[in-house]
Parts: sequence; structure tokens; C-alpha cells
Amino acid sequence: MHDTLSQIPSPCYVLEEELLRRNLALIRSVKEAAGVNIILAFKAYALWKSFPVIREYIPHSTASSIHEARLAFEEMGSPAHTYSPAYTERDFPTILKYSSHITFNSLTQFERFYPQVVADGNRVSCGLRINPEYSEVETDLYNPCAPGSRLGITADKLPELPQGVEGLHFHTLCESTSYDLEKTLAQVEDRFGHLLPHIKWLNMGGGHLMTRKDYDTAHLINLLRGFKQRHPGLEIILEPGSAFAWQTGTLVSTIVDIVENHGIKTAILDVSFACHMPDCLEMPYKPAIRGSVEPAPGTYAYRMGGNSCLSGDYIGDWHFDHELQIGDRIIFEDMIHYTTVKTTMFNGIPHPSIACLKSDGKAEIWREYDYYDYKTRMD
Ligand SMILES: Cc1ncc(COP(=O)(O)O)c(C=O)c1O
Repeated sequence: MHDTLSQIPSPCYVLEEELLRRNLALIRSVKEAAGVNIILAFKAYALWKSFPVIREYIPHSTASSIHEARLAFEEMGSPAHTYSPAYTERDFPTILKYSSHITFNSLTQFERFYPQVVADGNRVSCGLRINPEYSEVETDLYNPCAPGSRLGITADKLPELPQGVEGLHFHTLCESTSYDLEKTLAQVEDRFGHLLPHIKWLNMGGGHLMTRKDYDTAHLINLLRGFKQRHPGLEIILEPGSAFAWQTGTLVSTIVDIVENHGIKTAILDVSFACHMPDCLEMPYKPAIRGSVEPAPGTYAYRMGGNSCLSGDYIGDWHFDHELQIGDRIIFEDMIHYTTVKTTMFNGIPHPSIACLKSDGKAEIWREYDYYDYKTRMD
């Protein structure tokens, strides 16, 4: 595997098919055992050339915009479960065309667009996003239930459902456990329990990191089965994103320069945290680098610096058992979910290519970017 990676041109995101299949098999097994529907959230992962593999296990997806809805329809081959914080008059007819389910973030949005759903022959099933005002997520940037949140309708505003609403949707988790879901479900049943007998489906959003090693999938399955028993006839939908692409590949980069300032050594790379690994700075978190070691006497410490002009485009420190050299490869682990979908072309920095390491061990370069990709984003 390591040898194949050294053949790949730098910089490059490298998706590994076998790792993706491993996640997909686990997700499908949870889906079947719990008797629920699990769909892929494109916001976390939308490498559409891998959709034929994904479709072998999971045929549906969730979209958060007009373009994701179209990608679902055209590339996944099935209409999307769509939710966006706000639909516009311009986009809604297209959203309608490409969706099987549409969730509205507010009652005003539902009232504004429901007539179009009716005029379309009620082909699409409508839902409302609820806000259970409870989340275990500690980072406010990722907490949909932070005080004053714009996301979802609180229970005090929803004594009953407007005619035409068939589903409810909540999203409160982020890289969470089934025990977090359990606590959330207790809140949902407490605050919105009176509405559950009147709907056909309940979408429990994303954030279920069931492919993480220590995730208790048996507990999740029992939890969902128990919920279904308490609410017979209710279709349960989960729409994780990260869980699909969790630990399915790397970002391969190369050291371009090594600078030193007051004893701090920074290896400057041909990639940028700001442009190509934005969650490292936003969350923030320190990604794993293949071959780095725990700090110990005799190890060498380096910051990794991005190649944008943003002062904060660096993360430190990693340790190595040898001195790094210009030209060395630096391989960041677990760089597929929320990276490839979130990158920017800030500074006009060359964008990493995208490759797939196929199950037969061969590498396929799926996409390379050039000057025109940068230029055609603007006018
Ligand atoms: C409404 C909704 N659904 C699904 C997801 C996917 O979450 P995750 O990738 O953490 O599983 C998100 C993530 O922000 C979301 O906002």
C-alpha cells in the first residue's frame, strides 16, 4: 500500500476502495439488523465516481442544496432526501424535481413552498426539521442546538402539525455515539412525542459514527429496534455522512521547504490546512501523519505549514525518529470526509488531485486540476 502511495503524484487525495467497502458493509448490516433506512449525506462525501460502489450497498442519499439534489438524481440514480435551511423561489422547482422527500427548516418555508408540492401531485413527502434543544456537541460551530440556533422548529412552536406534513427530521449529533443518540431520543420523545403518531417517517439526521472502532453498533441496533417498537409503523431514516468515508483514505503531500524560527522548525508542504484540510483549523483537530512517533528523547519535532499566505495555516507539532528532508512525502491519515467537499482555491494554489486505490491494488487518477479550474470559478 505504502509503495503504491509513493507512485501517486503529489498532492493527491487517495480514496481506498477496500476501506470504503468495509464501511459500507458495516452500515448495510446495521440497516438490515435494525430495520431502518440509512442514506449517505453528500455534505460529508460526494466523490461521485465512487457512487457505483456505494450503490451496491446503500442506494439513497441526502442533499442539502440544489446541486447535491441533482447529483443524487443523476449520479446516485435515486431522488434525494433534501433538507436545506432555506429554499428560494429560484431553486425550489429544481429541488422538487430531484427529491423524494423535502424537509423544511421553518413553518414559513413550509407554508411558502407546500403549494408547489401539491401542484406537483404530492409526489414528494414533506417533513419539518425539529430542534430538540439538546445536543452533546460541545463545539458551537457544530452544535445545531446552541442557544438561538436558526436550525429547526422548537417544540413550543409546534403544538400540532400542519396538514401535508408527513415526516419530522432532527440533526443534533456530530461524530457521536449511540449513547448520545439514546439521550437525544429521550428528549425528542419528551418534547415531540405527541406528534409521532401522526407522521410516517422520522429522520434522525447524521453524526452517527458507526464505523469508528469503538462505536457500539449492537447498542445502536437495540436502541433503534426499541424505538420502532414504541412507535410502530414509523419509518426511521438515518443520514450519516462521516461514517461512510471515515478512515477511507489519505492526503498525500510533499515537503517543499523547511524553515526555522527561534528553534521552531516548520516543514512547508505543497498543501494547505486552510484550503485542503479546513476542518483541522475549524474544529480544530490535529490529523495523524503516517510514520510520526510519540515525542521522546532523540525524536525530531516539526510543525507542518500550509502553502497559503494565511498566517495561521499551520499545525504543530509532530515528532519523527529522523530528520525530515525537502522532497519527503507527508501522508495525512483520514482525509476523505469533509475535505474533498470543502476545499477552496484560495490563493490560486494548485488543488490536490483525486485518486482511487482500487481493490485490485491499482491506482486510478480520477481528477487533476489546472489553471482553468481556478480561472473558471470567477469572471
Ligand atoms: C442535516 C444534516 N444531516 C446529516 C449530516 C451529516 O452528518 P455527519 O457527516 O456528521 O454524519 C449533517 C452534518 O452537518 C447535517 O447537517
